[in-house]
Amino acid sequence: MKRFFDDMRLSLRDLGVRGTLQRLPDYFDMLAEMRKPRSKLSLEVEAERFDERYGTDTEQLLTFSEHGILANSSSSYVHPYQCATESSIAESIRALSIDYEKFSFLDLGCGKGKPILVASRFPFRRLIGVDISERCLDIARENVRRCSSFCEPSRVTLLQEDAEKLVFPAEPLVIYLFNPFPENVMQVVVKNLEASVRESPREVAIIYLFPFFEKSLEESEIFGRLPTSQYFTSVFATKPVGWAWPRNPDSKK
Ligand SMILES: C[S@@+](CC[C@H](N)C(=O)[O-])C[C@H]1O[C@@H](n2cnc3c(N)ncnc32)[C@H](O)[C@@H]1O
Repeated sequence: MKRFFDDMRLSLRDLGVRGTLQRLPDYFDMLAEMRKPRSKLSLEVEAERFDERYGTDTEQLLTFSEHGILANSSSSYVHPYQCATESSIAESIRALSIDYEKFSFLDLGCGKGKPILVASRFPFRRLIGVDISERCLDIARENVRRCSSFCEPSRVTLLQEDAEKLVFPAEPLVIYLFNPFPENVMQVVVKNLEASVRESPREVAIIYLFPFFEKSLEESEIFGRLPTSQYFTSVFATKPVGWAWPRNPDSKK
């Protein structure tokens, strides 16, 4: 309950009474999330003991007040932090089966940096994490420092930015999204990414975990869907889809 009241205090301070009333459903969702028995995903994350093995801080969810951001530049609700399992992140990257040296890995909404740590096992050119929350980035920086034995810090760039304002680096990219934004933000991000690819044509793949707002990608003239058999994951790539991608006849969707 204390975490809930901390959220309320932050909300009243930053959004006022009206803004807080508008957001009440989000705060109650967060309260329900914290009180319900562990979700299947949290149990799987805990079972892997990632933090215990690497001395990192990635497993714990953050409430709105712990996360420090309630709304982005377009006043949209900002999804707070949560992470996926190491094995699912690694598997989704491995399934691309690309020439990793040619690509940079960009986690848009990178939170505490777990996907960056996992992606560092692949020979990506560089690893980029962007998040709106400075608190998440502080933790991500410390996590990278703690994993420097396998994740060379000089390969990593961590950037505090609202995804809606991000200027995408003009290089081939694998973009990782763990359901970071609501639909209206996703639309802006996809539009900006399309403009960036039009201006600097290059290969871009998007791994989208919990793809609730994939409509703008489905309707894109630039991106097409790649087959994947991974749980709650969609993969999109610049057309013509399949440029460098293996075709797995067994994969669904
Ligand atoms: C579900 S977490 C995923 C974290 C990380 N990608 C992972 O898989 O471990 C979503 C993250 O998106 C960030 N986020 C939400 N809205 C954002 C925005 N407009 N710009 C940048 N980051 C944002 C949040 O701060 C949060 O850390």
